Amino acid sequence: MLQGKKIVLGICGGIAAYKTVSLLRLLVKAGAEVQVVMTPAAKEFITPVTLSSLSRKPVVSEFFTANTGEWHSHVDLGLWADLMVIAPATASTIGKMANGIADNMLVTTYLSAREPVMIAPAMDFDMYLHPTTRRNLATLQADGVMMVEAEAGELASGLQGKGRMAEPEVIFDHILHFFNDSKELAGKKVLITAGPTHERLDPVRFIGNYSSGKMGYALAEEFASRGAEVTLVSGPVSISTSHAGIKRVDVGSALEMDAAARSAFADCDIAVFAAAVADYRPAMAADAKIKREGVETMDIRLVRNPDIAAGCGALKREGQVTVGFALETDDGVKAAKAKLRNKNLDMVVLNTLKDAGAGFACDTNKVTIISKNDAKSFPLKPKKEVASDIVNEILHCLPNE
Ligand code: CTP
Repeated sequence: MLQGKKIVLGICGGIAAYKTVSLLRLLVKAGAEVQVVMTPAAKEFITPVTLSSLSRKPVVSEFFTANTGEWHSHVDLGLWADLMVIAPATASTIGKMANGIADNMLVTTYLSAREPVMIAPAMDFDMYLHPTTRRNLATLQADGVMMVEAEAGELASGLQGKGRMAEPEVIFDHILHFFNDSKELAGKKVLITAGPTHERLDPVRFIGNYSSGKMGYALAEEFASRGAEVTLVSGPVSISTSHAGIKRVDVGSALEMDAAARSAFADCDIAVFAAAVADYRPAMAADAKIKREGVETMDIRLVRNPDIAAGCGALKREGQVTVGFALETDDGVKAAKAKLRNKNLDMVVLNTLKDAGAGFACDTNKVTIISKNDAKSFPLKPKKEVASDIVNEILHCLPNE
């Protein structure tokens, strides 16, 4: 999978350094040639011997080897590698990278790197949230450094929260994506809405639906794996995504989804509205929990939610492509064509509840893709493959450049 790829693996002084041993093993097993560079503090956590045995190369940590005086060239490493990965990246190293401080072999190699750089931050919860760290991470992202987000969980300090380094398998996945993803949609911005919306009744209750978000998430992964920059506006779901090309914006209600989608729409090339948006919301959401005592029947007045697809469709500019979904029980094609017109869409993906294995909460789907002059039916397939079919059809709609 990574045969012939050259990777500089930078390791900083944090407890997560022990996990980097597994990452190194995964990389070497996949065929990559790995040069480990450690900060002096990293050696307090794991020994260079473990790493050099696995990588079959001496670990570089100092500018000079003490007994021989041999000089290690950070410039040569920067020219040699196809990718530099820093895992764990501590708050201190992130700060140095963001500010051009080159006081050890690892940060000097970073400053000399011509290859792309990926970091997997790891630190305590409060350090991760500190405005200085946020600012430094934003600077690095603006500089084009790819980031494998830290995960939430129990931290070495005993605190709970975000800051734990992503698991080696997750970082490895990011590295595989970096090398193997196609660049077919590089430079394209894609907006996807996914999942259900929750319309609040009171602080503990909502009106919702059974949408799992699986189709929208599969589309986000597919677009990202073809090099697009994806904004995934997601209602409350229990699935996750870890692709570096996906920026996830979590929302609750249809109004929140509408605001998030509109702000990403202006700038996007393709928008896919895969969310199952509640058409109505309670006219009033109670501030306190609604009590049942003395209440035999209850009426909830509902008001219309904005139609997000139609709202964006009305703002559509030349060259933008918009795609909607339709879930029908009866005359699907006719209803889907009406949605195409009413919401100013270029394509509607129709699935019929009558088909076994299609629709909400399944891992498979059976769709007909309807555009202005065409209707193409596909067999029942896993949602990942359906996503690939949909993206292929969308590519036909993109204006030629
Ligand atoms: N949609 C949206 N905002 C809404 C409602 C729907 O963006 N408030 C989008 C969905 O994401 C989907 C398409 O519009 O792409 C579905 O259209 P819709 O008219 O809601 O379909 P149904 O709910 O199936 O239609 P109907 O209520 O007419 O049965």
